[in-house]
Amino acid sequence: MKRIGIFTSGGDAPGMNACIRAAVRTALANGLEVFGIYRGYQGMIEGDIIPMQSSDVSNIIQRGGTILKTARSEEFRTPEGRAKAAENLRKYGIEGLVCIGGDGSFKGASVLYEEHGIKTIGAPGTIDNDLYGTDSTIGYDTAVNTVVEAVDKLRDTAASHNRLFIVEVMGRDAGFIALRSGIACGAEAILVPETPTYIDVLIQKLREGWSRKKHSSIVIVAEGDESGGAYQVAEAVKANFNKYDVRVTILGHIQRGGSPSAYDRVLASEMGYAAVKGLIAGKYNVMVGRQGREIVYVPFEKAIKHNKELNRYLLEIAETLSR
Ligand code: F6P
Repeated sequence: MKRIGIFTSGGDAPGMNACIRAAVRTALANGLEVFGIYRGYQGMIEGDIIPMQSSDVSNIIQRGGTILKTARSEEFRTPEGRAKAAENLRKYGIEGLVCIGGDGSFKGASVLYEEHGIKTIGAPGTIDNDLYGTDSTIGYDTAVNTVVEAVDKLRDTAASHNRLFIVEVMGRDAGFIALRSGIACGAEAILVPETPTYIDVLIQKLREGWSRKKHSSIVIVAEGDESGGAYQVAEAVKANFNKYDVRVTILGHIQRGGSPSAYDRVLASEMGYAAVKGLIAGKYNVMVGRQGREIVYVPFEKAIKHNKELNRYLLEIAETLSR
């Protein structure tokens, strides 16, 4: 393999730049030529591809977002779109790809391999942490810290006004951000899609808290929870328990931005490095993962099946400590 391409795809995540930097520099150090592909699969289809040197990735390790931009490409979902993408890669002599993204991006990479034989390796970049086979994804730690910082601020005003705040955090299909940030913030309740949500149980808990002189509370809801989100939970609480003055905060895309934490920068550096080393060693159609202290290579097929479990022990801790 002489030439590889690097791209970011799907929702951006803090640390993607650190991963691009690591992949570019590892490739150059191993005698490969590197090409940056802008706007993910869409840029691949449109031939938005440029050669990259070491200086192109200077001063980006600390920056959020992605210098290569990102997109969710509808055209790539079609066989014609993928054929155009593969043709462009061949035009540039690109034999291997490092894809930094989440499950949708890896599905795309997998199809590109099956249909056109393009050798692709993934570095998990998503704040959701919903990929099987890695303890953490790039951006997750930073997003959790962003939530914690915001909820600490909400606590101050909640305590001053004796209010209940229902805070919605990201996590389309998963409760990882909600669970970890909820424990870190001492939330009174955490609602996640992985466990059933019973509004009457939540209300009973708030009632008991109130009777123990807890006059301000924080409930964290993952956006994918079956309750329907923060506004629905707030309405249900208001209708059944009127002691609290209820407020809703939706943290939204603020969770995707900002400078990556030291943890994410190191993780991203390890993953970018391991991705290129993996490609050189003939590993493809796999995602780089970190399990404990080990770097592992997990088949895309396993990584994207949405079967990563929430840590039951953390759920138990959250439940016990919030009483
Ligand atoms: O997958 C990452 C994520 O941030 C989800 O948590 C969220 O539901 C989604 O992306 C939002 O996507 P968009 O930026 O397209 O609104």
